[in-house]
Amino acid sequence: MAKYRVRLRAKSRRTNRERPPVLTGMRTTGKLHLGHFVGALENWREVQNSGEYNCYFLLADLQALTTHAQNPELLLESIRDVVLDWIGVGLNPELRNVHFVLQSQVLERAMLSQLLTMIARYGEVMRNPTLKSELKEQKDATVGFMVYPVDQVADILMVSPYPPKQGDFILVPVGEDQVPHLEYTNVLARRFNQRYGKVFALCRPLIGRVGRLVGLNNPKEKASKSRGNVIYLSDDPKTVEEKAMGMYTDPTRIHSTDPGHVENNPLFDYLFAFHRDRAKVEEFARFYRQGKIGDVPLKKELAREINVLLDPIRERRAQAQKEADIRAILEAGSQAARKTCRPILEAVKEKMYLQYPK
Ligand code: TRP
Repeated sequence: MAKYRVRLRAKSRRTNRERPPVLTGMRTTGKLHLGHFVGALENWREVQNSGEYNCYFLLADLQALTTHAQNPELLLESIRDVVLDWIGVGLNPELRNVHFVLQSQVLERAMLSQLLTMIARYGEVMRNPTLKSELKEQKDATVGFMVYPVDQVADILMVSPYPPKQGDFILVPVGEDQVPHLEYTNVLARRFNQRYGKVFALCRPLIGRVGRLVGLNNPKEKASKSRGNVIYLSDDPKTVEEKAMGMYTDPTRIHSTDPGHVENNPLFDYLFAFHRDRAKVEEFARFYRQGKIGDVPLKKELAREINVLLDPIRERRAQAQKEADIRAILEAGSQAARKTCRPILEAVKEKMYLQYPK
């Protein structure tokens, strides 16, 4: 198999059983963008490269189906794209402690999810903020969509260290928007443990550096892939430059000699997120407020910085596109998750009396 030239900072001698599990995931609804990078992927790479964790990176194709059942064929292509993007940023499924898991292929997880629905209360699921806000936008929400918070709890708890020892935990590196899901995971884990006996460890969030990257053209919306105002990790240098040049900045500023606003200005949000030299961005901000620097040089600067970040990502991605056996990667990762989940599911079934009568 191909080598993706990922450098390991520390090689831990631990075996996978001794490493605390990491579980995190992304919906497979399209190519990944810069918001995914600063919100989550940076941290994923960090925990992977520390060598200290057993990492399950989940491609949430079932969760994608909760909102995309009308055109499921798009999902198949998205799975490829997400795998390539992940390898691009430096995640490496060839490492012994890294598993790319295809959610729909882990049958044990699905049953764990169903059993968790028995202790999840309707009212508390409906209070989940992500669910609530998306229900407002969506006219034809499905039952599958409404149980997705429970399903996500199953994603996380399926890799719970079993049997759990004092101090065991599941580390979940995610963007800030996922925190309610993690809190709910611990609500259900505690409830199960109290009612039936201890099976689950609790999870801990690890939150990304930038909580919410705004869209290029609309500071009020988060960088969402559905609205076409994002820079994809796979965009070529020219596209990055064009998108940067077209960014929304300060609408109150007509001439570059007018004093400008830095707050709520996507150009500065991006500069602060992606420029390697923070002191320089602070200097730009001072000049901008004084009307001493225009949008155009700053946009050029931003495009340059983003391209420096994306160059190695594009290169690794292109290499993986030629060489990686995506199917084999996903099969191996999904089998690893099944193996981990099996004893947990068995314990849950036993505690819930789902057995042949004696
Ligand atoms: N809900 C996450 C998203 O929208 C994806 C996801 C699915 C996830 N299962 C997960 C994240 C488990 C963390 C843990 O991107």
